[in-house]
Amino acid sequence: MSSILGIGIATLDVINIVDGYPDEDSKIHAINQRICRGGNATNTLVVLSQLGHHCTWGGVLIDEPDGQKILEDLTSYAIDTSLSRVDSQGKVPVSYIILNQRNGSRTIIHHRDLSEFSFADFQKIDLSCFNWLHFEGRNVIETARMLEYVKQLYPDLPISLEIEKPRPLIKQLFTQVDVLLFSKTFAQSDTNIDNPALFLQKMQQQIPDTRLVCAWGAKGGYALEVDGTLLHNPAYPPSQIIDTLGAGDTFNAGIIDGLCRQQDLATALNHACRLAGKKCGQVGFKGLVSK
Ligand code: FRU
Repeated sequence: MSSILGIGIATLDVINIVDGYPDEDSKIHAINQRICRGGNATNTLVVLSQLGHHCTWGGVLIDEPDGQKILEDLTSYAIDTSLSRVDSQGKVPVSYIILNQRNGSRTIIHHRDLSEFSFADFQKIDLSCFNWLHFEGRNVIETARMLEYVKQLYPDLPISLEIEKPRPLIKQLFTQVDVLLFSKTFAQSDTNIDNPALFLQKMQQQIPDTRLVCAWGAKGGYALEVDGTLLHNPAYPPSQIIDTLGAGDTFNAGIIDGLCRQQDLATALNHACRLAGKKCGQVGFKGLVSK
């Protein structure tokens, strides 16, 4: 079991389950609606906690009922939220999500009007009690300062960084971490080609000392070892795809879990693909590991 600190967002997810994706300017009924906590880093922590790790979240919330709901959810997964910052003004970020029950696709409209977890917040954390740090690739300027600080004070503390979307200057974070967890969206936007192997190889030319991983939806996951060995593991789709929301975050948890357990990257990749497949066959994250 590792002690893992995750820095990133927690959101309120308003999930409308629909039977078929709506046309623009149409009016349809949701078959069902679920309101729950979401957010990439906290989703990943919720899975890691179920895998037996001691997880702590660093992020920002608002002192209001939705913020309370988010804290209660994290606490129910035994995630330590004591390092998070609770502001008195504002609103928690909300994602309005269309979940198409025909194919499990999720379309997310995210609204955020909340300041980010800052370097000043991060500096207050005693990092000596953690074995692994996980960051979201957002809030680039402040995150760069956090990564630099960790590298100076705790050069042996492993760091993973999730890169979901292209953002200005985001590449400056890449050289500061041990494992980069790319999304398919990022890879496609960066190379303009539908080829994960080429994407990872191109990345390796810029960051030769970092382990590179990329989730590729129905085609599974790819990874590139520092020595240039390319790994691919197919997806494990469930008999019925129910809910793909957070499948990438679950995949990332699988990689982190495997590497924390000293597995080689191929084994961790296989584990991540299995876990993400399982996630797609169930609603939410609860019971993901025991099933
Ligand atoms: C899924 C997710 C949702 C959240 C959104 C934030 O990966 O974390 O839970 O609303 O993405 O971008």
